[in-house]
Amino acid sequence: MRIAESSVLHRSLRDDLPVAARGEGARLYDTQGREYLDACGGAAVSCLGHSHPAPIAAIRKQAETLAYAHSAFFTSEPAERLAAELLKRAPKSFAKGRVMVLNSGSEANEAALKLARQYHLERGEGSRGKFIARESAYHGATLGALSVGGHRARRATYAPMLIEVGRIPACYAYRGRKEDESEAAYGKRVADALEREILRLGPENVAAFIAEPVSGATLGAVPPAPGYFKRIREICDAHGVLLIADEVMCGSGRTGTFFALDQEEVAADIVVIAKGLGAGLQPIAAVLASERVVAAIEQGSGALAHGQTYMAHPMVCAAALAVLETIERDRLLDNVRARGEQLNAVLGARLGQHPHVGDVRGRGLFRGVEFVRDRESKAPFPAQAKLAQKLKAAAMARGLMVYPASGCVDGISGDHVLLAPPYIVEPSDVELIAERFALAVDDALAAIKL
Ligand SMILES: Cc1ncc(COP(=O)(O)O)c(C=O)c1O
Repeated sequence: MRIAESSVLHRSLRDDLPVAARGEGARLYDTQGREYLDACGGAAVSCLGHSHPAPIAAIRKQAETLAYAHSAFFTSEPAERLAAELLKRAPKSFAKGRVMVLNSGSEANEAALKLARQYHLERGEGSRGKFIARESAYHGATLGALSVGGHRARRATYAPMLIEVGRIPACYAYRGRKEDESEAAYGKRVADALEREILRLGPENVAAFIAEPVSGATLGAVPPAPGYFKRIREICDAHGVLLIADEVMCGSGRTGTFFALDQEEVAADIVVIAKGLGAGLQPIAAVLASERVVAAIEQGSGALAHGQTYMAHPMVCAAALAVLETIERDRLLDNVRARGEQLNAVLGARLGQHPHVGDVRGRGLFRGVEFVRDRESKAPFPAQAKLAQKLKAAAMARGLMVYPASGCVDGISGDHVLLAPPYIVEPSDVELIAERFALAVDDALAAIKL
């Protein structure tokens, strides 16, 4: 559609957009009949592909029985079941925890920060109200979530409105690790920065540290260094600081385990999941509070100091339950792991030696490809070249959806692309993703005038 003729306040008021008409399996189709192989689930959302019958049937059934009942008046069967099912899959420290169901990653992170603050207040530590987060993190678009986010370009417009946050470096071995340093030594070095930041702010003032277990949108599927989160956990425990895992993008099975942090053998105090939980069929996010957080409120005021109109929405919960059931019934996490290895291998084969590909990384069906002007120096392309956007456009022209982002080097420059195909993806489509992507990379690079 010509954007000038649209009444929607789109993200860009300059770029025309195709009109999506229908989806089927790993593919979307526009009104012109063009096919797009969805290699990124939009923003790592559509984990069951498009039009999966199970959540659709669950939503229809729930709409016909009970669409909405305000959570201050009623609880509902789908909300109770979903919360219990999520806790069953969480680490032991969540066995007697509780779950808050909301509608987007941003608001769920906002609620998680508030919950951490409330936890300390309930325990008589009212001075704890500061948060520490990492450079280059993305935690959402609302003001609290954007404040803990560390992506310079995304924060810039709103800088005067944001709350002050303690900041430590990202765990980003491709750019941060010294040549003579092991992965584990690098992980310890960047984790130790948290302790210094807590001491700088005064432990009595710090409520929580928030981080993405596998960094998503702003760094491009960067897994933590070995031992990094174990050291982070130790530091949080030593100073009474809560650990919030933002698994909005990397959770819900995307990296091959339902919770991404499980692979680090570490449990957070509060976990936030979203995108894959609703698989794009309903807007959902969940904040899981561990037993210790819930106990503080139960033994204190007994009331959550946060509420929203659409909390624990029955149709949203019914859809997520069907997503969970489908992932398990069809053993889809086995496919995430197997197809993830395949995707890594085919990307490596086609792009691993490309002069402008610096790094191919990730876990499960969550993979990132970082582009560089020069492999040796790792120098990025100039931001004005808009390589990431060109890669997205070139891929769309070849019938492939990939998620582009820029700013991985310093919040402005550095280009990468995120691949997050559906958990149902077939081996032949994994091959096709790599084939179309490699062609799109050459198209996009040819369009850059250096
Ligand atoms: C790690 C992470 N946290 C939070 C968010 C914000 O979620 P939403 O866009 O649903 O508000 C995102 C979205 O990309 C994300 O990747």
